Amino acid sequence: MKSTCATLVSLLILAVMMVSATRIREKTFINSRKIGLGVLTGPESFAWDLVDQDILYTGIADGSIRRVNVTSGESTVFAYSVPSLNATTRATCGLSVWNEPICGRVLGLTFDHDRNLIVADAYKGILRISFNNPSQVQVLVNSYQGVPIKMVNSVVVMPDGKTIYFTDSSLAFSRMQFVSIVLANSADSRLFKFHVETGELQLVISDLRFGNGIALSSDHSFLVINECSERRIRKYYLTGRKAGTNVVFVEDIGGYPDNIKTDEDGNFLVGLYAETNADVTAVQSSINIKNIFLKHVPPLTALNMVPVMGLVKKLDRHGRVISVYVDRTSTFVSQVSEADVHEGKMYLGSVLLPWLTVVDLSTDLQLN
Ligand SMILES: *[C@@H]1O[C@H](CO)[C@@H](O)[C@H](O)[C@H]1NC(C)=O
Ligand SMILES: *[C@@H]1O[C@H](CO)[C@@H](O)[C@H](O)[C@H]1NC(C)=O
Repeated sequence: MKSTCATLVSLLILAVMMVSATRIREKTFINSRKIGLGVLTGPESFAWDLVDQDILYTGIADGSIRRVNVTSGESTVFAYSVPSLNATTRATCGLSVWNEPICGRVLGLTFDHDRNLIVADAYKGILRISFNNPSQVQVLVNSYQGVPIKMVNSVVVMPDGKTIYFTDSSLAFSRMQFVSIVLANSADSRLFKFHVETGELQLVISDLRFGNGIALSSDHSFLVINECSERRIRKYYLTGRKAGTNVVFVEDIGGYPDNIKTDEDGNFLVGLYAETNADVTAVQSSINIKNIFLKHVPPLTALNMVPVMGLVKKLDRHGRVISVYVDRTSTFVSQVSEADVHEGKMYLGSVLLPWLTVVDLSTDLQLN
């Protein structure tokens, strides 16, 4: 009897230890720096300069790509997705999302090994911008089998520069209707592989649910693909026995993932719009309610169902959550589209906020 009790007690202690070991303690933002307040409107994603450590590039609401000095906080226009617009039209860019199809909207950008900026513009396709002559914008691809791609979202250039992977978020809706893409939660979003030398475009995955950010693993053996509306992350094998196939990497990330970045340790940083919202799930789960929302409810009303917050999760290379960063009061950041760590600081973009948030990892976080 006594030994059974002792066994039970030690089992209990073991169970408590296991639970506390797997529980992730949240880190709360307690301070930050805001760069480009009022100028950097909706900086969605970043690319770091290959030479200057304090320079990053980001696409903003008016269809421009800004070159930002993160030390001084100053920024200038580096390029435009659509350089040919006249001054009258240019002046309308950024005033409303309805101008985006004309002005362009950059959602993903990265450098290739020739230092060209490779850009995912939601409306204009995959663009190649010459670093030394940024008014030279070449459209690499913007349609598949003769049909324009609706919403180009995120881009990865393979290290050999020969292939480019990118996501298309929806067959039905474009970027300005992103709320509808979330509510519809259709399995019609795609991952493409573009062959730079031949111009061939290959459909790689065709059943993503709001395929959003993508990232290459540090050993280059797989891609991870955020499925925003399903709150899931997919893994696509590039090498080995499973090459060309995909599996679920994270079944439920607990919120709506936008972009994903590989950090220097080989972990993945996921920027999340917000935590899972029961009202959104209810709309997604009922065909009737969904149709009412898609037809009759203004997108902003639907968007306002979701309480704003700042949320970032860090995953290891097996998809286990190892850190959670939150700003429940949205004091420093909210609706995070991208989180990227660079020289001890986390850079946070949001498609809806008019600034870029910088958090010093050693001083601006508090363990809950
Ligand atoms: C960025 O700004 C800082 C501070 O003004 C300056 O010292 C630095 O040279 C700038 N970097 C570049 C690449 O211009
Ligand atoms: C500017 O471009 C728009 C769209 O192409 C055109 O309708 C308009 O007439 C142009 N305005 C001027 C002043 O050239």
